Amino acid sequence: KEEEEDEEEEQKAEESSDLDTSSDDEEEEEEDKDVNKTTEMGEAKETTKTERDGQSEAKVGEQQQIQNKKLSQPAIFIPVDRSPEIQEARLKLPVLAEEQVIMEAVRENPCVVICGETGSGKTTQVPQFLYEAGYASGIIGITEPRRVAAVSMSHRVAKEMNLSTRVVSYQIRYEGNVTDETKIKFMTDGVLLKEIQKDFLLQRYSVIIIDEAHERSVYTDILIGLLSRIVPLRNKKGMPMKLLVMSATLRVEDFTDNQKLFRTPPPVIKVDARQFPVTIHFNKRTPLEDYTGEAFHKTCKIHRMLPPGGILVFLTGQAEVHSLCRRLRKAFPFRKDEEADTSEAMRKFKKAKQKKTSLPRIDLDNYSALPVDEGDEDREAGIGDEDDEGSDLDIGDDPEEKADPSIPLYVLPLYSLLAPEQQAKVFRPSPPGTRLCVVATNVAETSLTIPGIKYVVDCGRVKKRFYDRVTGVSSFKVTWTSQASANQRAGRAGRTEPGHCYRLYSSAVFGDFSLFSEAEITRRPVEDLVLQMKDLNIDKVVNFPFPTPPSAEALVAAEQLLVSLGALKEPPRTGRVKEMEQARLSCPITPLGRAMASFPVAPRYAKMLALGKQQDCLPYVISVVAAMTVREIFVDLDRPAGSEDESSKLTQRRARLTQMRRLWAGQGASLLLGDLMVMLGAVGACEFAGCTPKFCEENGLRYKAMVEIRRLRGQLTNAVNAVCPEVGAFVDPKMAPPTEHQVVCLRQIVLAGLGDHLARRVQAEDILDPKWKNGYKTPLMDDPVFIHPTSALFKTLPEFVVYQEIMETTKMYMRGVSAVEAEWVPELLPQYCHFGPPLESPQPWFCSSSGTVRCHRSSTFFRVGWQLPAVEME
Ligand code: CDP
Ligand code: MG
Repeated sequence: KEEEEDEEEEQKAEESSDLDTSSDDEEEEEEDKDVNKTTEMGEAKETTKTERDGQSEAKVGEQQQIQNKKLSQPAIFIPVDRSPEIQEARLKLPVLAEEQVIMEAVRENPCVVICGETGSGKTTQVPQFLYEAGYASGIIGITEPRRVAAVSMSHRVAKEMNLSTRVVSYQIRYEGNVTDETKIKFMTDGVLLKEIQKDFLLQRYSVIIIDEAHERSVYTDILIGLLSRIVPLRNKKGMPMKLLVMSATLRVEDFTDNQKLFRTPPPVIKVDARQFPVTIHFNKRTPLEDYTGEAFHKTCKIHRMLPPGGILVFLTGQAEVHSLCRRLRKAFPFRKDEEADTSEAMRKFKKAKQKKTSLPRIDLDNYSALPVDEGDEDREAGIGDEDDEGSDLDIGDDPEEKADPSIPLYVLPLYSLLAPEQQAKVFRPSPPGTRLCVVATNVAETSLTIPGIKYVVDCGRVKKRFYDRVTGVSSFKVTWTSQASANQRAGRAGRTEPGHCYRLYSSAVFGDFSLFSEAEITRRPVEDLVLQMKDLNIDKVVNFPFPTPPSAEALVAAEQLLVSLGALKEPPRTGRVKEMEQARLSCPITPLGRAMASFPVAPRYAKMLALGKQQDCLPYVISVVAAMTVREIFVDLDRPAGSEDESSKLTQRRARLTQMRRLWAGQGASLLLGDLMVMLGAVGACEFAGCTPKFCEENGLRYKAMVEIRRLRGQLTNAVNAVCPEVGAFVDPKMAPPTEHQVVCLRQIVLAGLGDHLARRVQAEDILDPKWKNGYKTPLMDDPVFIHPTSALFKTLPEFVVYQEIMETTKMYMRGVSAVEAEWVPELLPQYCHFGPPLESPQPWFCSSSGTVRCHRSSTFFRVGWQLPAVEME
């Protein structure tokens, strides 16, 4: 035991020094690992070079001599009993041809990069190679940026290997089927990052495969940075571990030619995709608006005029996908089997669900639900990240597109939030005598390979979330995709035979696309990552070996926010400017910060959880945080996708859902908790109803989101209990609505977490410019922000509010708004306040004559000089 502790200490010290100070001392470690190091590393370098030139075989002879001394050379081959059909299908995959090269490289090198076109078999086969070669002494872990991929790939690999899901398992944020027997574990990248926090050396794993590295998701990037340090540490400690990075594009220089990351560039193995030629057809003109309409016409044309073969259409978001699916189904009707099988699956799912959850019921009187009439069958929620102001909805069905109905078109949607059983459909053969047509977002670009596609229709666009670096305002914008992505999309057409790709834009436009998509980390706030890293004792996050570092601005903003939340220690305000600057970027974590880091939610919400135990508010805080964390729990009222209703029915439904939300918002005191009260009410009501698809559908809730919230509540409760067991929190299915007193506490807790998201309504008499009517001022923005008409507080317009985020659509709208009281601000957010004599030049409309305490942040934050009521402070 002592030894263990010692090791832990040592490990911690090593971790921090390693990670803080880039890779300077890595060489030393490598040296005492193995006397043959020089040869080995020299060798590896050479390998890399030759392999980049495409001659991967060149190395074999020379390596023979050092082979015996390898640390992790597996001793045994584990037989796998595959069915003949599976074996036959495998042999067709290009990656099989490289098995030997890959396994040799893995044996010779701690880290290996594998590049290969989507569909070449990387994800499904490489874990099997490793398993067979005896690397499953520990777990072989594979990370995926998308949950869909983690789940579906684990099932696929289990099936191919003829092994139970107890052995080939998956773990995503809310669920998993990992057991003690698990040998191959697919997981989302976020899951592995959390595990690193618990066990920095990942001792249960013998291999980590980072899949889809080309997507450059933030967690994937961080994982590569961390593993570049963990792998040598493990080898040094005599617990060898391998790292494989798999990418669909050849652009891997960010990983390989990155001295900060790998001193010795890892070898790159290129898998030649057995890709059939794809003929690219550019449009003569580029439709600027109605690309969904264009996609519709093109798809109709292909279906009517071209030989058999599946069609894959790329659009940008869920609403577009559904709209096109509907139009195509109308134009080329198909038997109703599909619907039947959906509802059958849903019925079974419901049944299984009911069996499993025998939670006690909560009191009906606590939450009311109105009776509702039949909903629309294929309704899907409008989803936030696809919150386009899209043109697709106003496309009328085109009478002249009368198609030849002799071959039915089997139309399937595909996007990441689609229910799993629906997603799985694209992998099954389409019914005989039909042509498959999948309408997808960019999930179909690289993570999933759909069999039998011969035609690709590419709108050339992608929907991305953009953040304003200074204000944090986010918006979803449809932008042109990159050339690399467009080529990926085209490549989907040539998997099984020569294919065609129809680009709904001109070649000139294509020429203007950027070559590659930029890494996500450069486009989003990073406070969550910074907190996670601080918890790993990486104080100087600036020095972390990021494959692509985030901007300095983003790092500074993250540290500032974390200091304000109390997660990091405030840097000293005295000393030399340069030292102060330094200190500002390397604040150590506080005990509160550690607790916050252990909660699997963003820091602002983690702060709320940390405070939540007061006044018995914890169950509510957990529910609210869970609801805020899950994307889009409410069906979009303005845009009920899937509806072919006449407008009167639509209006009816809208009115009913609005009424539901009003009910959940409550009255009086509870109304002031605003949109968060609506969420809380929805969670409580849904829980009462047993969280059924029917209840959700009837009440305008997104079923998938509600199931996630339910899981997350359990998870967050455990996390809080782990930090402070004396609270003994538990998920109470009988959660009564909060008392008035508790609602006040909740509003305070929310303020403490969302303190930097404070906004103040501009008083009527102060309005100089009509654009400020009903507008709110935030500290960082010059323009007004507004309460959305669907918000519970739209009519109330409280003077001070906090908001979850600002989304820019037609206006700057605050989402997730709660009212707070002015006198709480100095007490709960002293870090943002300036206590002292009045400021020189506060902006006129924020002054009132009542108070003596000014809320002010002198630097970049709260410079608005809001005058707040006097409070007793020293
Ligand atoms: O990872 P990579 O894109 O290189 O390929 P993969 O995902 O391993 O897919 C290899 C092959 O397995 C493809 O031809 C897929 O169509 C097939 N596959 C499948 O049939 N069903 C799945 N659930 C997953 C993959
Ligand atoms: Mg893959």
